[in-house]
Amino acid sequence: MKTINQLPIYQIAPPRIARRSFLGGLAAGIASTSLTGRLHAASPNGEVRVAVLGAGGKGSQLASYLDKTRGAKVVMVADPDSGRAESTAAPYHAKAVVDLREAIDSPDVDAVLIATCDHWHCLAAIWAIEAGKDVYVEKPLAHNQWEGRQVVEAAAKHGRIVQLGTQQRSDPMQAQIREFLHSEKTLGEIHYVQANRLGLRGPIGKRSEPLAFPKGIDRDLWFGPAAVEPLYRNQLHYDWHWDWNTGTGEMGNWGVHILDDVRNVAYQDTQDLPDRITVGGGRVGWDDAGQTPNVHFALLETKTFPTMIALSNLPVEPKQKGAWKVSSASAADQWPQNAPGSGYVVVCEGGFYLGQRGSGQAVDRDGKVIRKFHENTDMIAEHLQNFIDAVQTRDASILKAPIENGHFSTGWCNLSNVAFRAGESFSQEQLMSQTDFAPWSQMVDSMTSCLTKYGIDPQTLKSCPTLVHDTASERFVGDNSDAANQFLRREYRSGYEVKAIS
Ligand SMILES: NC(=O)c1ccc[n+]([C@@H]2O[C@H](COP(=O)([O-])OP(=O)(O)OC[C@H]3O[C@@H](n4cnc5c(N)ncnc54)[C@H](O)[C@@H]3O)[C@@H](O)[C@H]2O)c1
Repeated sequence: MKTINQLPIYQIAPPRIARRSFLGGLAAGIASTSLTGRLHAASPNGEVRVAVLGAGGKGSQLASYLDKTRGAKVVMVADPDSGRAESTAAPYHAKAVVDLREAIDSPDVDAVLIATCDHWHCLAAIWAIEAGKDVYVEKPLAHNQWEGRQVVEAAAKHGRIVQLGTQQRSDPMQAQIREFLHSEKTLGEIHYVQANRLGLRGPIGKRSEPLAFPKGIDRDLWFGPAAVEPLYRNQLHYDWHWDWNTGTGEMGNWGVHILDDVRNVAYQDTQDLPDRITVGGGRVGWDDAGQTPNVHFALLETKTFPTMIALSNLPVEPKQKGAWKVSSASAADQWPQNAPGSGYVVVCEGGFYLGQRGSGQAVDRDGKVIRKFHENTDMIAEHLQNFIDAVQTRDASILKAPIENGHFSTGWCNLSNVAFRAGESFSQEQLMSQTDFAPWSQMVDSMTSCLTKYGIDPQTLKSCPTLVHDTASERFVGDNSDAANQFLRREYRSGYEVKAIS
């Protein structure tokens, strides 16, 4: 018997009830409509007609890649910043629109590629899925963990092809590393993983008067599901990353790439979400309007070995160029000096695997390189091609980053953010006493001692005692769970609600 994914293109996800047109709703002055699935016409030549939603740095890059992707055509670009929409659409003679609902509603669009700010990812994905479109959505899948689960449910319910933009999953190198670590077992048992994103950023300004919303950008659409709030930073675009209302901080930005690699390579995707989360961090050394931490460290414990992640956006010393270095976690597990500042170390019985985007190497306990990994792959091109191939064949099983997997990788970051937000005054002692895992204490020591070069008292950080996460219900349980669970879901603005999918 054929499964839903084996059915010919556009023969899946029959409509449940006729839905009102978005544009009808808009024309009537209604911000949003209730969507239900419907079929849309396939392009006559089998080409997948794609609308790019979000025309910032990433959306315009993906549009240029899509233009070269076999079987794909950029037909529409949507952005509330009309100038961005137009300039991104122009090279492809695509239609530029300000309202993504026009793209989602169009019978001339088969799939959408979502490269908006994080707060829009899930709502746009669900609207598109319910309208019968396939979806490529940028990382992180979700601005909060609950809405990511709704995307997974919607994709399953409506039988759509939905991929997360974690392009490193399309690097064939990953399979070789898995083979090396788990089948050949050249380095022996895995003890734990240290993930790092120690990369520089600067403050985003702090205005005394709110930023005048730039002309030519539809404010209501830009905020969408998020609260419409005055902005005290200097620029609207990109720096939304560092505001909880619209972004997910460095954890949801770089963290998701690195933790997705760790889930893929070190855990072979056997661990969906962590069971225990212990976190410290803060936004320190800057006096700006940002809220998300620029120093963030987490211990993520699973049913097998644990992972630690260290993020910092600060230079090694004020006004210097180099990023922080997190020192080896224990005398027994001395990492090589060249451990990636943006990547991860798989600490094994017989050596270390040092992984970063596009390359990696395994070294023994004496620091001798055993094997190097590198493929000359254009990951973005491969990942988009993988999505388009899946759309054309209606075979979701070939997706390199299927959406539930993406929900889990995003979850490692979202839960670390939740723990930070639920945290209270910093207690290094409490952080260290939460676990017997000795390398964690050394990591906390290492991170806090980096602050001394700034004259920053670690007490200005926040910490959260260990949270226990029930991976079945995707809720926190036990101590502090009430404080944490409130951050698993947001309040949505009227007309832009993500509804529970049942
Ligand atoms: N996979 C990767 O390696 C990678 C790299 C960079 C960025 N990203 C992701 O891509 C996304 C965009 O990042 P960016 O750097 O381009 O940010 P950006 O701020 O430059 O662009 C975001 C764009 O989304 C637009 N937008 C806001 N509301 C919208 C709406 N309702 N409809 C359509 N567009 C809307 C904004 O006006 C803006 O032009 C982020 O989620 C980011 O995490 C992924």
